[in-house]
Amino acid sequence: MKTIKVSFNINNEDVALDVRPYETLLETLRERLFLTGAKEACGLGACGACTVVVNGIPLRSCLVLTPEVEGATITTVEGLREDGKLHPLQETFMEKGAVQCGFCTSGMIMTAKALLDRKKKPTKKEIVTTISSNICRCTGYKKIVEAVEEAAKRMATA
Ligand code: FES
Ligand code: FES
Repeated sequence: MKTIKVSFNINNEDVALDVRPYETLLETLRERLFLTGAKEACGLGACGACTVVVNGIPLRSCLVLTPEVEGATITTVEGLREDGKLHPLQETFMEKGAVQCGFCTSGMIMTAKALLDRKKKPTKKEIVTTISSNICRCTGYKKIVEAVEEAAKRMATA
């Protein structure tokens, strides 16, 4: 079968892979790189469970073909921990009870991370609008919004 060579940086590591031309980034992450934080739920770009950050932009990895990320810098939820310490969003999601089944959590966190990376003090409305692109069937969103607000505070004072 024809394959395409693709190189990119993921979670601060350079990788080079031979992939199928129509292979999605979500498949590559989960099945080749064993990074299973990004989840497949709808597989259609509707739920956000598969969100990862590509060149600073949160993207639905089920809609991205891996050959499209040639040369990109990608962060997944597995890459958020630094020096053995969880990212503030990971801490506050746990502390605020913003995780129930957890299926949406990595996508929510990566969507929120991209927001906090570009805006240090987002308003509540900006947080709500941003995470409204991700579906959570469990939490009712209130605790997720509180977790993002608290993480923003901690990151601003760090
Ligand atoms: S699995 Fe990608 S958006 Fe739902
Ligand atoms: S915690 Fe279950 S879908 Fe969000």
